[in-house]
Amino acid sequence: MVSYKELGLVNTREMFAKAINGGYAIPAFNFNNMEQLQAIIKASAETKSPVILQVSKGARNYANQTLLRYMAQGAVEYAKELGWEHPQICLHLDHGDTFELCKSCVDFGFSSVMIDGSSLPYEENIALTKKVVEYAHQYDVTVEAELGVLAGVEDDVQAEESHYTKPEEVIDFATRTGCDSLAISIGTSHGAYKFKPEQCTRDPKTGKLVPPPLAFDVLDAIMEKLPGFPIVLHGSSSVPQEYVDIINTYGGKMPDAVGIPEEQLRKAAKSAVCKINIDSDSRLAFTAAVRKVFAEKPGEFDPRKYCGPARDEMTKLYKHKIIEVLGSNGKAE
Ligand code: G3H
Ligand code: 13P
Ligand code: ZN
Repeated sequence: MVSYKELGLVNTREMFAKAINGGYAIPAFNFNNMEQLQAIIKASAETKSPVILQVSKGARNYANQTLLRYMAQGAVEYAKELGWEHPQICLHLDHGDTFELCKSCVDFGFSSVMIDGSSLPYEENIALTKKVVEYAHQYDVTVEAELGVLAGVEDDVQAEESHYTKPEEVIDFATRTGCDSLAISIGTSHGAYKFKPEQCTRDPKTGKLVPPPLAFDVLDAIMEKLPGFPIVLHGSSSVPQEYVDIINTYGGKMPDAVGIPEEQLRKAAKSAVCKINIDSDSRLAFTAAVRKVFAEKPGEFDPRKYCGPARDEMTKLYKHKIIEVLGSNGKAE
């Protein structure tokens, strides 16, 4: 058993309370490799932003859970080396799908876990979430739950259509499970193709897709039922068109990739939405930078020469999210 407290990590409780009161949101960035982690920590340290490092089941399989844990531990020290005296870094399991996986993360030094029972029938979601909460809270590990289903890929689960969270269920769910935060469905979805072209309109000048707005009425109704309760938005990448264009210019093929417009996320960040999940945008930044180097310098074969520019591009992206979208800069001095 390793306690996250020994690793210098923090859970989400205080982070979320401050974010709700302060009208900003905490960035939750996924990482799978060293370059992503370096970029996240550099951006957070330079902006003094609290940050959530997210590890998915896929990331654990890709990078090895032991290595990832030590990387997160190293990240705290790296942050201090960068001059961030009191880093506020949370290590969070993203989309945990079983009690055993959540328990293993709690036992292994994670400070927060998500149990995603959103694809289960309501009562089964409650029972599973409650079991994880009871275990995690013994070690002061915070738990995120999910109610409502996002369109697109929910980890391994393909959800063709999104089912918005039902506001009439949230009080019962939060009370009976004891969860610390709730991920909701209001129209966001995972990946780089968040809406089908037929769900969007087209900008007549650029020909680019303009996505439909998020269901802020559903968010408002949830906030009314659970005043001050921490709400989480998954699937919140904006799919920057400049990255999509670079990828397509240099041999990629990502037609009609579209994300959540930043102004909608800015609006959400000012509400009880206090954690905003971003993964795909970092993948796009990485891929765009690597494709550019490969196209312009076809003789290059030192991975540092293309992973380095990718890391710089991700750092720029993370800082942009922190300062221009979520408003979490300067909140962890
Ligand atoms: O919500 C999903 C995250 O973007 C993680 O994706 O399962 O491919 O690691 P992954
Ligand atoms: P994106 O695919 O929009 O980046 O969402 C990531 C996410 O929700 C991770 O849990
Ligand atoms: Zn997610």
